[in-house]
Amino acid sequence: MSFERITGRIIKHPKKLSFDYVPDHLPNREEQMDKLFTLFRRVIESGVSQNVFLYGSVGTGKTATAKRFCMDYREWAENKGRRIDYVFINCRRRSNKQQAMWKIVSHFDSNFPDRGFSVGDMLEILQKHLKNKKTHLFVVLDEVDTLVQRDGSDLIYLLSRFEDEAISPEGRLSLLLISQKNVLELLEQSALSTFKRGNRVKFPSYDRNELLDILSYRSKLALHPDSLGDGELKLLATTATSERGDARFGIELLERAALIAEGKGKGDIDAENIRAAKADIDPYFTEEKIHELNTNEKLILLSAVRLLRSSPFTTTGEVEDCYAMVCEEFVQKKLAHTQFWKYLKSISDHGLLNTTTVSSSKGRTTEVSLSDIPADVLETRLADMLSR
Ligand SMILES: Nc1ncnc2c1ncn2[C@@H]1O[C@H](COP(=O)(O)OP(=O)(O)O)[C@@H](O)[C@H]1O
Ligand SMILES: [Mg+2]
Repeated sequence: MSFERITGRIIKHPKKLSFDYVPDHLPNREEQMDKLFTLFRRVIESGVSQNVFLYGSVGTGKTATAKRFCMDYREWAENKGRRIDYVFINCRRRSNKQQAMWKIVSHFDSNFPDRGFSVGDMLEILQKHLKNKKTHLFVVLDEVDTLVQRDGSDLIYLLSRFEDEAISPEGRLSLLLISQKNVLELLEQSALSTFKRGNRVKFPSYDRNELLDILSYRSKLALHPDSLGDGELKLLATTATSERGDARFGIELLERAALIAEGKGKGDIDAENIRAAKADIDPYFTEEKIHELNTNEKLILLSAVRLLRSSPFTTTGEVEDCYAMVCEEFVQKKLAHTQFWKYLKSISDHGLLNTTTVSSSKGRTTEVSLSDIPADVLETRLADMLSR
């Protein structure tokens, strides 16, 4: 048997979909990048350290933006003949100050022993390294709330007061704290006093259009050309938006859908693959939800689902036309237009369909899509229930 047919027809660069891959650009994070640059340019220009706090919910690009910023800033500084280095620490993994400090020191000395030195000792050693190397160091404490909750704000205080009297940026250190929660509320007064009010960068959740940009860019990087159509891309973005604007979820969905399509021996991703991916990652769909529907709602849902078998989106107008035929098929009385709308709305309130109103030159239309379960699976179940 040849496995060739199921490998790699869609995904060209698997790495570019992985969580730790940092893309060259981060669409819709230009504002955050600019703000970081505005805050940190003083490091090179006037030699002062900066302590900055980045916050926002999961999947809003905090980690990726911080990494991209550190890489780009280092290059910018280098072009100006200044040396910048950075250490990235995930505090969920290094959850106490000892371990975090060890990670910083071992960045300069890979053989540094992991016991036998106090935090104070390691701070002194770090100072020497920075002076020798004439480097200004960015320390990024990601998911810092886990460190503060377990170990207080001691380390943040010590790092933020690092080398008070130095006059040049070399040998100094700046802090970037990243958290979902407002960790500044958890800091003790001494550590808090080293954070200026303006030194906060907010990462709002992405909306559907922003996720569309991001997923379009990431799919171009990672997939073979023409393996993801515009409608399918839009369905991915719609599905990820219903999960609170989370780019991580969007990328995971893209990867899973691509793998499902490849597994079926196909060269492109269709809407059914995306729905199957969603059902895989997040089996949110419950039987109960369809059992709760009344007959009218089941007929309307079945109409939408039939249209969606071969397409990522349909419109309410098309659903209503199809509904008329479905009523004939199951010998049921057809509802008037306003009633039809009321029931369609209730189906979407149940979360079984997504409805999005879009305005175009032709007026307003309401797009209808399905994300939690493949249309052919749902169609079979509904038709079964209705013919009983
Ligand atoms: N604006 C963006 N452009 C491209 N990819 C993005 C963007 N924002 C987030 N991502 C990607 O989404 C995933 C989650 O982002 P991440 O930075 O880990 O979020 P957070 O740290 O806020 O939870 C990562 O794979 C990241 O590369
Ligand atoms: Mg993160």
